[in-house]
Amino acid sequence: MLIRRPADIPSSEITSESDYINRRSFMGAAGALALAGLAAPSVLSAAGATGRAQDDKVTSEEDATSYNNFYEFGLGKDDPKRYAGSLKTVPWTVAVDGLVKAPKRWDLNQLLAGLTVEDRTYRHRCVEAWSMVIPWRGVRLRDVLARLEPMPSAKFVEFTTLLDPRQMPGQRSSSSLTWPYREGLRLDEAMHPLTLLATGMYGKPMPNQNGAPLRLVVPWKYGFKGIKSIVSIKFTDKMPSTSWNDSIPSEYGFYANVNPTVDHPRWTQAKERRIGEFLRRNTLMFNGYASEVASLYTGMDLRKFY
Ligand code: MTE
Repeated sequence: MLIRRPADIPSSEITSESDYINRRSFMGAAGALALAGLAAPSVLSAAGATGRAQDDKVTSEEDATSYNNFYEFGLGKDDPKRYAGSLKTVPWTVAVDGLVKAPKRWDLNQLLAGLTVEDRTYRHRCVEAWSMVIPWRGVRLRDVLARLEPMPSAKFVEFTTLLDPRQMPGQRSSSSLTWPYREGLRLDEAMHPLTLLATGMYGKPMPNQNGAPLRLVVPWKYGFKGIKSIVSIKFTDKMPSTSWNDSIPSEYGFYANVNPTVDHPRWTQAKERRIGEFLRRNTLMFNGYASEVASLYTGMDLRKFY
């Protein structure tokens, strides 16, 4: 993001989509549900959890999987697709520690076993002012956190990406970021029903370039909050330090809520370029999810806590 040339900062818009959530269950339960006739999509209102707008079209799978930010594999938009293929994602473990009842290293399958898997189409708005509409597949982060039993003193959750310069060539060279990539949420943001831990997209397992096997999706925040290839979840009572915020605090806030009225110091955030479209769209407050999430920030000056 730091190294962007003006030509790389498209303006366009983000679509959002999907009135429905296709509920499934992880490992085994899916079959039982299907047999019971319960696997049919459940319908939510247009203003509901998926926040679909009428003119939101799903971005092509080709675009969503070949135009990526994953600096561990290079700074170019096509680098992740080119170089992430060799990342070994099976087996995968997630270390859970900090203010939690029982710190433990979880096997990914064990961490997600039995949780309801949902297909949700969300707008995806990068701080660089491009956007997409992506049908994610995953579990609610709140379901995972409940399983981990944080202590009452926990106020934040910190996530960390794999650190392995042998597999992630971008970690061998200097960049605007220090490795490993870290992100975080306030606990109430993490517990919000819109917040997903995604394991797939377009009805398929998550491609490596999009953050396999496990990535965060927080649709009302800029995309850099959506940390990829997560290997650790830590509960804290203090706001965690996060990669982009550490690197340039004046440009990338901890909260990073999509806000068309607060410009990035080097470009406007009022408009966005929807990948696959020609004209720029207006950016929506909270990326179109204000009715669901604005109450999380009551009393905060959103111009300050960007
Ligand atoms: N996670 C890691 N580990 N490394 C990254 O470079 N880039 C972030 C976020 N998660 C990034 C990351 C940024 S800036 C964006 S916009 C989204 O991933 C891009 O997700 P996508 O490639 O699936 O569209």
